[in-house]
Amino acid sequence: MRFDVLTLFPEMFSGYLTQSLLKLAIERSIVSVDLHNIRDWAQDKHHSVDDRPYGGGPGMVIMPGPAVEAVEAVQKMDVTPGRVVMLTPQGRPLNQRLVEELATHPRLLLMCGRYEGFDQRVIDILEPEEVSIGDFIINGGEVAAMVVIDSVIRLVPGVLGDEDSGRYDSFSTGNRLLEFAQYTRPREYRGLQVPEVLLAGDHQKIAKWREESSLQRTRKQRPDLLNE
Ligand code: 6GU
Repeated sequence: MRFDVLTLFPEMFSGYLTQSLLKLAIERSIVSVDLHNIRDWAQDKHHSVDDRPYGGGPGMVIMPGPAVEAVEAVQKMDVTPGRVVMLTPQGRPLNQRLVEELATHPRLLLMCGRYEGFDQRVIDILEPEEVSIGDFIINGGEVAAMVVIDSVIRLVPGVLGDEDSGRYDSFSTGNRLLEFAQYTRPREYRGLQVPEVLLAGDHQKIAKWREESSLQRTRKQRPDLLNE
């Protein structure tokens, strides 16, 4: 799976790309993440990428020229065209269903906006899938792009150990419930005991207990998931 990230702040990704799970996937050539600075496609001598909004108002808008030409140039860097995804609070809310859909593409181009976003003509011309990570505002699309990469790579075969496949994660097709409660050593902590059933080794009983734990947690913490 190939990701191309188009951003004005590529340095924001360096820590993320060198962490364990993703680093290993990149080293094994299962995943690649290529960073591209939109400023490299600036068209004037000052390398401008943004300007004040027509009609007035605060902030700056990313100019159409650098953004559109960056995407066109990056598309040509591989024979497989990528699905263009724009990270924006105006987008379709990201959930596990959308993550599963994005993971079906062999290549994604992630466009990170800053300031007051991209000139509307960027959207009209490129027709990206606009994606939001929730109903709140963050300072730019970079952290959102990392969220997309992090959630999508879990579904790429070989990225996780096969033993903990992301297919069974909460919110997946086939698991609409929250994960069950987990315990590790010690058996007692501050007077709180690990449930006896988890210590006894009866796998049928454990499975039943976990199902009930998932249901109970979901009812208490996310009842909305039960009427979807
Ligand atoms: Cl993708 N970008 C920004 N700036 N804020 C957001 C977002 C994206 N998703 C939710 N809030």
